[in-house]
Amino acid sequence: MEWKVTKEPLYTLATDCLVVIQTQGGESLKGCIRAMDEALDHRISQLMADGEITGRYQEVTMTHNWGKIPAKRLLILGMGKEEDLTLEKLRNGISVAACKARDAGVKRLTLGCSKNLSERWNAADLVQALVEGVELGVYRYRGYKQENSKENRREIEEVWLSLEDVSDSAFEAGLERGRVFAAGTKAARNLVNEPANKLTPSALAEYAKKIADHLGMKAEILDEKKLKELNMNALLAVSKASAEEPRMIVLSYQGAPDSQEVLGLVGKGVTFDSGGIQVKPDNGMGDMKGDMAGAAAVLGAMEVIGSLRPHCNVTAVIPACENMINGNGYRPGDVIDSFSGKTIEIQHTDAEGRLILADGLSYARRLGATSLVNVATLTGAVIVALGRSVTGLMTNHEDWGDEVKEAARVAGEKVWELPMFEEYEEYLKSSVADLKNEGGREAGCIQGGIFLKHFVEDTPWVHLDIAGTADTKGKEGFAATGAGVRTLAQLALRFSGK
Ligand code: BES
Ligand code: MN
Ligand code: ZN
Repeated sequence: MEWKVTKEPLYTLATDCLVVIQTQGGESLKGCIRAMDEALDHRISQLMADGEITGRYQEVTMTHNWGKIPAKRLLILGMGKEEDLTLEKLRNGISVAACKARDAGVKRLTLGCSKNLSERWNAADLVQALVEGVELGVYRYRGYKQENSKENRREIEEVWLSLEDVSDSAFEAGLERGRVFAAGTKAARNLVNEPANKLTPSALAEYAKKIADHLGMKAEILDEKKLKELNMNALLAVSKASAEEPRMIVLSYQGAPDSQEVLGLVGKGVTFDSGGIQVKPDNGMGDMKGDMAGAAAVLGAMEVIGSLRPHCNVTAVIPACENMINGNGYRPGDVIDSFSGKTIEIQHTDAEGRLILADGLSYARRLGATSLVNVATLTGAVIVALGRSVTGLMTNHEDWGDEVKEAARVAGEKVWELPMFEEYEEYLKSSVADLKNEGGREAGCIQGGIFLKHFVEDTPWVHLDIAGTADTKGKEGFAATGAGVRTLAQLALRFSGK
């Protein structure tokens, strides 16, 4: 997709479709949409008077040009109340509009944002949001269909941004960040959408190696033999019933050789989660191909970091394996070791994510990480607690937690903190081991955080549970979102101030 910028007014441009933003409230039409209404002999006002266009958030109305403007058609995008408008809403709204335009066969699109709206934001941030909105909105997973259907061939080829008062440098900066953030997010979506027979732990490792080579980062892949030598026994225990070998994937980006600070990103890479011997029920088990979304978020963020090259050090650690079933599998009641030396009583074989992350977090500390964030599709309970649009956040360090929250806010991803009071420790006390991996249904999401906390010691750490946000249950079924990529990437950009 090609991106261009122009200072010409929107209604003078001769593309296939103009997207204009309509907010709710206020007496009269303002900015672009007012100029457009005048060019169209007040037909927009008429449609509004008739109640066909309300400006409701994400309302999309396509109209003709009635031979009055050079563009072939007009797409009016509702943005809700002007005072409630945020960059996150703008980005998501633009996504819906771009997708509709693409499906209608639009190849050349023009986007505008009039001054009364654009003034509230830094110009580069605004451009970034618009670029991300379009790029992410038109994303499609290619899959393995032999036939390339007519719908699948439809693509937007060119987007013109019509923005007054945006300097060339702000445009360039916003465009670069928008494209790179979107590319990282799309890469993560691709990985998560990929079926588990294709994306095995070793295939994930090869992918990671490829991007590291491409971006000039160091990659170290630990295979089963090496994992045994290092006593990564929690990862090995989960992987035991699988025919696929596990991997510990490590990528390191050295952008600040002068600094001791290292941001450690740890992602859960369970390429398929059957539940183990405490097998999952058969409702939607296929979605568990996406149980490596944490790993995908970390890899997507590393792609962004490798492209934008901030002044900071980042180490990515991804424990990758399958949670399968055979005669070798770990059992409830077993006691296993971990890389940290702590022993774990297995209470539930379906609480596998925290086991492999225990080794991943300990290993990231061993490699020198001074601040940690782990990302994981850890619990169904987070979906019960927060739904599908908010990621659960837990932390052992208030300031580091605030830093991650701020990165998420700037990135336009929603997170909400859950508490880790001392009382919750009770759930995971074991009579035969240092701790157990599950303690019943109560506070299920928090138990995941409490378990992981035991493996980070005093290193500032944040746990992001993306089980609810990693995919949507849209009308076409499972669809990965790339949740976490932009938050982690934004965090690394902020970390570069250190
Ligand atoms: N991968 C699942 C969590 C999950 C559930 C992700 C739904 C995405 C959608 C995780 O490994 C799991 O099975 N968690 C158990 C934990 C329980 C056994 C303590 C769960 O949520 O039921
Ligand atoms: Mn599980
Ligand atoms: Zn899992």
